[in-house]
Amino acid sequence: MVTVTEGPLEKLAAYAMRFVKPGQTIGLGTGRAASAFIRALAGSRIPVRGVPTSLASHELARECGIEVVTLGDVKRVDVDFDGADEVDPRLNLIKGYGGALVREKVVAAASRKVVILVGPEKLVPKLGAHRRLPVEVVRFAEPYVARELAKIGLKGRNRANGDGSEFLSDNGNLIIDCAVSRIENPARLEREILSIPGVVGTGLFVGMADMVLVAPTQDGPLRVLKRKP
Ligand code: A5P
Repeated sequence: MVTVTEGPLEKLAAYAMRFVKPGQTIGLGTGRAASAFIRALAGSRIPVRGVPTSLASHELARECGIEVVTLGDVKRVDVDFDGADEVDPRLNLIKGYGGALVREKVVAAASRKVVILVGPEKLVPKLGAHRRLPVEVVRFAEPYVARELAKIGLKGRNRANGDGSEFLSDNGNLIIDCAVSRIENPARLEREILSIPGVVGTGLFVGMADMVLVAPTQDGPLRVLKRKP
């Protein structure tokens, strides 16, 4: 007999089900926490349809039997559930370590409510603590974008796969992982980066998350953080 142990992300995903209502359209995020959510959603049997934020989430949702729709099929997304790589005290985020930042941001923007699921290691006093900010870039523009990023103090490295080949997003673009330290003004940095032609999107999610669910630890319970208006 196989014993399945419920880890912190599974507990978090099970808790998140209270924010799902029958008949809703749900944003399906990308990564470990979002995958735990997708599995819990399928297990809950709450009748919903999902808009995936990546090919991987699309595949997982399909395997789990969740009805998958596109942004063209629905007028809006009710609630988006996703993970994050960093969360600051105002619930601004860095996302995209998994490479799905652009679709994740589109689905978050199309959603009435955004709920983020993370472990406590993702909570930081200021964004940039983990020293990486992903920026998705059109391949043709990459040499130019890299020079322009350097002018605003962002040195980057093109993301590669494990075998050394170049990493391509689901949109067929390159990801430049910029070295960052404490980001004092995420909204301003976002505007500066987006003003460079050839940039498709950044991993900065400013003012988008409504709620962050933090996984329980051995020492503490699951926490619910809400963005202050
Ligand atoms: C995918 O591009 C990312 O934005 C993920 O949402 C983020 O990396 C969190 O992933 P994990 O839940 O796997 O840490």
